[in-house]
Amino acid sequence: MLASIANRQSQIANALPWLDGSAFPLYLAPMAGVSDKIFRQLCKERGADVLVTEFVSAEGVFRRNERTREYLDFDQCERPLGVQLFGGDAAHMAEAARHVVDWVAPDFIDLNFGCPVNKVVAKNGGSALLKDCPTLAAVAEAVVRAVAPLPVTAKIRIGWDSDSINAPRVARILEETGIAAIAVHGRTRAQGYSGEADWNVIGDVVAAVSLPVIGNGDLTTPRDVARRREQTGIAGAMIGRAAMNSPWIFEQVKHYLATGEELPPPQDESRWNLIRRHCRLAVEEWGCEDKAMRSLRARLMAYSKAFRDSKQLRERFQHISSLAELDDIAITHLASCADVEAVVPTA
Ligand SMILES: Cc1cc2nc3c(=O)[nH]c(=O)nc-3n(C[C@H](O)[C@H](O)[C@H](O)COP(=O)(O)O)c2cc1C
Repeated sequence: MLASIANRQSQIANALPWLDGSAFPLYLAPMAGVSDKIFRQLCKERGADVLVTEFVSAEGVFRRNERTREYLDFDQCERPLGVQLFGGDAAHMAEAARHVVDWVAPDFIDLNFGCPVNKVVAKNGGSALLKDCPTLAAVAEAVVRAVAPLPVTAKIRIGWDSDSINAPRVARILEETGIAAIAVHGRTRAQGYSGEADWNVIGDVVAAVSLPVIGNGDLTTPRDVARRREQTGIAGAMIGRAAMNSPWIFEQVKHYLATGEELPPPQDESRWNLIRRHCRLAVEEWGCEDKAMRSLRARLMAYSKAFRDSKQLRERFQHISSLAELDDIAITHLASCADVEAVVPTA
């Protein structure tokens, strides 16, 4: 028994070397509409170790439409990178995974067993499979077999609702199917994104399996990550919304874990430089400034949360449609901050 666990762990270390136990990798959480190529690279530059694409439906892979092509597009500098797939049909998922591997050669396939969205759940995808363990096992097993020796990981929630929390059991089932690592978002499907992530259940999952478990949910500061690591024994951490507000979170966590000291927050000027770069890259990618800037409004709202006077910024971002407007907002904001600093003594 012990020999077989050791054997399995050494297989995982070979397949997912960033989870070999010597490091504590930080994952950028997959986020539909957010973790596109541009944002993933901005996070990678600021310390994210492992990236995952936005979720892609198995059916979308068969259609190979423009949107799926975009979801699957990544640059070599983003490795290690996983493509996340969702779907409730084992044979389709296996075939889609095989196509993805032939098409873009990711470092791993990640299976989405956590999405709470009605449209996905209605088709027996995402978190619906937490209620249907035989199908969940069939999907995982089929994909593992289809892409072997490429590793397959899974992302789950802790259960369907508070009366059916079953993440430790689901994790054991996934381990049996040959899944190489599991990310656990500490909320039920019923919670959506409200309430708090339950890290006790994440700890129970760590105890239930010998696979690496990546903890996810409400990690917003370096201290949060250190505390949850200590509490649960997770092998890595996954960060979503905090990175949307401030991609510096990854280097801040790394510095804190290595030294026990907190880095000072980035200067406003650095934040603006990153925002402007993000927008410029998106405009180049879209080839249409107006469309790109409109699509970035929600992203700008998220970035604004890291600034002092975020309310005024949000009002302006609501209507933004050009890079020139962005520059104007940035210059006005930086000038107003300089005025405040001139008035308020900094001793
Ligand atoms: C806008 C948005 C889109 C998301 N899309 C996905 C997705 O495509 N796949 C997935 O597994 N999780 C998705 N999630 C969930 C996140 O990966 C993560 O589990 C959740 O946000 C909790 O982590 P956090 O508290 O660090 O944000 C999404 C979350 C958000 C906010």
